[in-house]
Amino acid sequence: MIKNVTETVITIFFKVLFLIHGRPEENGKLAKVTSLYKSGGFSELFTSIRLWDAPYEEIAALVPSKGVIADLGCGDGLMVNLLALEEPTRQLIGVEINKDRLKLAKKGLANTKFIYGSADRVKIPKADGILMIHLLHHLTSRDQQIEILKSSYQALKPGGKLIIAEIGKKPFLKYLFTWFTDVVIVPILFEKRLYNKEIFYRTQQEWQTLLKKIGFKVSSKPVSPGKPFSHIILACQK
Ligand SMILES: C[S@@+](CC[C@H](N)C(=O)[O-])C[C@H]1O[C@@H](n2cnc3c(N)ncnc32)[C@H](O)[C@@H]1O
Repeated sequence: MIKNVTETVITIFFKVLFLIHGRPEENGKLAKVTSLYKSGGFSELFTSIRLWDAPYEEIAALVPSKGVIADLGCGDGLMVNLLALEEPTRQLIGVEINKDRLKLAKKGLANTKFIYGSADRVKIPKADGILMIHLLHHLTSRDQQIEILKSSYQALKPGGKLIIAEIGKKPFLKYLFTWFTDVVIVPILFEKRLYNKEIFYRTQQEWQTLLKKIGFKVSSKPVSPGKPFSHIILACQK
């Protein structure tokens, strides 16, 4: 019931917004991937919302154009399928712990493979690139974050790239909106619960320090102009 109400409110809000501003997939590059998600239901609209709010294009531009790329916590597989369509020479592996989302992710593209399981348990082959798009703050502890970052370092080939999208604590109002989304909206929509207080954000500086300690070269930037969320991207190299 509460899930249906939340979906209805979000649907009305975004239908109006997209009516005024146009849908994000009207940008040609994204149209191909969104055509895979045409269900007519909430998941179709959610795809457009994700392409609108998350810095997918900025991230895609950082991903190696060939080789093995793993997306940990791939959700509905939007980034996996986008990258697979962009470059057939990439071999994409999506890892996801939520079975319903994994089902939505599987679109049958030849250069994609999906694995069910927790990112700290699944064995991935030596990779040219690893993505963690809004995964880390949804893990169960700060220790688990460190464990997954360290095992990803081991899994990358020399020179391989780790690309992380996380949540910055500035600007404060955007941070507040993002926090509300993670604590209330995400649990209702995807986790069959009303809220989840256990969200493990770190500041941009804290992520940089941790990643450098693990051995990565790191550059980072906030990427939220014109959007309500306080996204940051961390581009790391082994
Ligand atoms: C905010 S969503 C982001 C999904 C996707 N990366 C995107 O950009 O739309 C975080 C995802 O991480 C998944 N997740 C959380 N803990 C995980 C774990 N230990 N291993 C694998 N996936 C996990 C959740 O089920 C959820 O789909």
